[in-house]
Amino acid sequence: MFPWKSCCRSLTAPVAATLLWMTLSPAAESQRVPAATLPFAPVLPQSVAPALMPLPASVERGTGTMRLDQNFKIVLEGYREARLDRAAARLQERIERATGIILLPQATGAQSTLTVRTTRASKPVQALDEDESYTLEVTSAGATLTAPNPLGVLRGMQTFLQLIHQDTQGFVLDAITVRDKPRFAWRGLMLDSSRHFQPMPQVLQQLDAMEMVKLNVFHWHLSDDQGFRVESHRYPKLQAQGSDGRFYTQEDIRKVVAYARDRGIRVIPEFDMPGHARSWFVGYPELAALPGPYNIVHHETVDDFEHPDPKQDGAMDPTKEQVYRFLDGFLGEMTALFPDQYFHIGGDECDGKQWDATPHVQDFMKAHGIKDDPALQAYFTGRLQKLVTRHHKIAIGWDEVLQPDTPKDVVIQSWRGQRSLFQAASRGNRSILSAGYYIDLNQPASQHYLVDPLVLPPFNPNDPTGKGVEVPTHLTPEQEASILGGEATEWTEYITPEILSNRVWPRTAAIAERLWSPQSNRDVADMYTRLGWVAHELRMQGIENGGLLQGMTERLAGTTGIDHLMVLAAMVQPPVDYTREVAGQAYDQLRPLTHLADSIPAESDTARHFAELAHAVATGTATAAQHVEARAWLTLWADNDAALAPMLDRTALTIELQEPSRNLARTAIIGLQALDRIEGHGKGNSENTAKQQQELETFDKLTPAALRNMAVAPVKELVAAKP
Ligand code: ACM
Repeated sequence: MFPWKSCCRSLTAPVAATLLWMTLSPAAESQRVPAATLPFAPVLPQSVAPALMPLPASVERGTGTMRLDQNFKIVLEGYREARLDRAAARLQERIERATGIILLPQATGAQSTLTVRTTRASKPVQALDEDESYTLEVTSAGATLTAPNPLGVLRGMQTFLQLIHQDTQGFVLDAITVRDKPRFAWRGLMLDSSRHFQPMPQVLQQLDAMEMVKLNVFHWHLSDDQGFRVESHRYPKLQAQGSDGRFYTQEDIRKVVAYARDRGIRVIPEFDMPGHARSWFVGYPELAALPGPYNIVHHETVDDFEHPDPKQDGAMDPTKEQVYRFLDGFLGEMTALFPDQYFHIGGDECDGKQWDATPHVQDFMKAHGIKDDPALQAYFTGRLQKLVTRHHKIAIGWDEVLQPDTPKDVVIQSWRGQRSLFQAASRGNRSILSAGYYIDLNQPASQHYLVDPLVLPPFNPNDPTGKGVEVPTHLTPEQEASILGGEATEWTEYITPEILSNRVWPRTAAIAERLWSPQSNRDVADMYTRLGWVAHELRMQGIENGGLLQGMTERLAGTTGIDHLMVLAAMVQPPVDYTREVAGQAYDQLRPLTHLADSIPAESDTARHFAELAHAVATGTATAAQHVEARAWLTLWADNDAALAPMLDRTALTIELQEPSRNLARTAIIGLQALDRIEGHGKGNSENTAKQQQELETFDKLTPAALRNMAVAPVKELVAAKP
């Protein structure tokens, strides 16, 4: 465990005063404060600096501190390159943002130096097997960062930044020796730029944030049914007709690649084939199995529901030589644009409906003894993989590409289930894990954090990977080494540029830690405490994350007076598992994502904190102060609807909040009654409890506002608790 575990459930003075007032006031059916106002709201546990994330491989604390003031400077020694100068300048700028200190350009102070030593260049194109280790030593006399090559320097600089904190005299770093290296070589973030185009500033911002938490692969999903997002000179109708005019120019791509390299991040493009490929066919219908014309679609094409029209599925035609000639030319152009050694060919969710509906494809399958659609896809993948190899790249594909005769150098990216990793390992294919790291599912950081690439979860009958095949439950050290790491994935059906960073961060930092830090770090409470501070650090560097997006919320309300709306917002979360369509908001690229469900974070800190509090109360382990605090929260929510309701009939986007607001209030009132009963102020009666449980069930459903009422589960626990 990290020595500076820093959780304190402190209450600010006005809050403590309010709570005291409440404790002293006579017990009614439930104790209530007058219509709650925000200064009197209870506060959340605090995160304080320093907080390292990802946790280093080894940390030794020393004595004394290094003071950081305007004379701080970075001195580069040993091997030099322009990238290191830029990294030093970036670190200085980040320190200024983090501390507010204006660093002197010609600093002379002797006590405030970070000396950086490295001996040799890293490879011209960053490779998977490169050394990212570093040693950072901080003493009261100064700090030294040593690394074999610039990649370790980049990693160590972020640790240096995270070590900065304050004492009564200013900013300091405590004496420490950090010896660090990553557990996995492949630590990525996948961004889907097709479903919603993500402009350059948003893309670059992700790379900045990735650097801060030591992620090193930017996997860029650049084509899908809803848009082809890269400029091709050779096949210009791809972007001209296959997009709405939003695509990255080749100049943009070069800029992203260079920006990423500066930050020690590889860029791997993904062009999804043979399914998810409708956007290709708008300009080049001859690539498709069924004849055109095709147009861009703005909705989901591949889903659980059946499409009456097989053309919706947009599959390439694996039987035509012309298709492979086209792809050869395309790969020639794109492999030159993206220098990384790996190239992602997609391969997911091709359901074969187009192929089933195309007589010449059926004839081809018969003539070549290809027994079914997966076998036809395997044939396509085999041909494609040869082309990728011809262009000196290694192919990666989603786990569907793992078939009995998949070439051994194809890297498998697990998404449907983790068993595919173990299956790949047993077949001799290398792999990376994304199942469990789908941050677009709006799951809590804790859930992602505990997913480990090398630990097979209990068998899940819904996991289609490894079905009907032998999947080893234990891997040899060699097989373990074939699991290269993992990637968080941000699909963007419900993510517009204004929302992107708020959903990717800070949860992705927890995944970054899983992939960097020793496996034994599994303390969720400690992770959250540090994550809270990392969220702050990201905010200080301009990456708004994990909170209510104030401007968006004011816009939906049509007013800047959103205090009471914020009380509601803090106890609701967006749907998980793509269930937004249940609320009548199925993905449509043209549908504005301007609801409260969009401006809130994926995970509410308030909700998590209250759930812990309610659990303590329900299990009889809560302190008196926790009882008081639980009551204060419930009272705040019980009273909030009356204060909020008058403003909710003003806009379309607030009218839909009337029901969630009422539901939260009613949930809280039930919670207060349960608390009274637990604390002995009221009488329990099993009929009443059953009714309350039933009522709570109805609040668990998604309303058209597509919000989850996060008070329901903890209040259910209170209702079920024995007094
Ligand atoms: C995927 O999520 N279809 C790879």
